[in-house]
Amino acid sequence: MSKKERKARKSKTYKIAVIGGDGTGPEVTREAVKVVKAAAAKFGFKLDLTDYDFGGDRYLRTGEVLPDFAVEQLRKHDAILLGAIGHPDVKPGILEKGILLRLRFELDQYINLRPVKLYPGVDCPLKNKGPKDVDFVVVRENTEGLYTGSGGFLKKGSEDEVAIQTSINTRRGVNRCLRFAFDLTRRRNKKKTLTLVGKTNVLTFAFDLWERAFHEIGEKEYPDIKRDYAHVDATCMWMVKNPEWFDVLVTDNMFGDIITDLGAMIQGGMGVAAGANLNPQGVSMFEPIGGSAPKYTGKNVINPLAAICAAGMMLDALGETEAAEAIEKAVMTVTGTKLKSLAAGQMGYSTSEVGDLVASQVG
Ligand code: IPM
Ligand code: MN
Repeated sequence: MSKKERKARKSKTYKIAVIGGDGTGPEVTREAVKVVKAAAAKFGFKLDLTDYDFGGDRYLRTGEVLPDFAVEQLRKHDAILLGAIGHPDVKPGILEKGILLRLRFELDQYINLRPVKLYPGVDCPLKNKGPKDVDFVVVRENTEGLYTGSGGFLKKGSEDEVAIQTSINTRRGVNRCLRFAFDLTRRRNKKKTLTLVGKTNVLTFAFDLWERAFHEIGEKEYPDIKRDYAHVDATCMWMVKNPEWFDVLVTDNMFGDIITDLGAMIQGGMGVAAGANLNPQGVSMFEPIGGSAPKYTGKNVINPLAAICAAGMMLDALGETEAAEAIEKAVMTVTGTKLKSLAAGQMGYSTSEVGDLVASQVG
């Protein structure tokens, strides 16, 4: 960036809501903030950070999962940086549904963007695969499918109990997700191939809609993008056997959830896997995709790279492309030349030291 450009941008201030959340969430978020601050100083933008204490501890203290003011407050920010949600003393589902999913839904973050990229020096569990083989992006629909909470019980607790959970797929929701994925494939400009991941052989309603929309939109609006299709089970197989075949994958909420955990493993584990909950027209939220890892809480051993990468994605979404690239480059230098492992407690450095390493590379 030239001096003039930097000056012109000087006044830019981003209002960021920081939700450390549960377990190791606050520790990794602290390092992500450290790196974002280093990037701000280097690339000439300002940060207006506000901490929110939403999470398990607050819930146990107040009985309130997400206070009423939360969504309206968060809406007034440019972005949200989230650590982790999930507390060992709270029944599974309450916080996940009441905080994470509620924010995704209410802020209409209809894309969950999850890059699967193996960085230099990172151990890959796949035999004979390296950074050039593992580099694709999953576009997961983030507001529909099995996640809407649509369904119910009949005769609950009896021998005749019925449980129904409905997958909701709207043409509008599918269209906007597909268009985002096509645009991204075009922008990435790699293999120019978008793969729809589904289960057309069994989910003959839901994926019939997805497949029709995929080809209609692709044919009319993205003739330059190659369209491919893979069943979700086969996708799991290819992700292990031939991950280099993939460029951009697009899929529904549930399948996207599942295949991105597999994706995280082939890119070196939860320590490095980041995700973005995007509302391209609104407020987006950025998070490491691993959980709150309660057993490591407060020990300064958890890997903060996923949170740092999520913060990089945030800067990219805010238009600070150079800063985002610098963060990714710094992370790659740190994985390539410093860390012994990406696993908690085995990095050869503490959580805060890894943050320092990345921040000093950025700044
Ligand atoms: C994820 C998580 C969440 C999801 C849970 C915690 C509700 O697994 O972000 O992938 O299923 O979306
Ligand atoms: Mn998940």
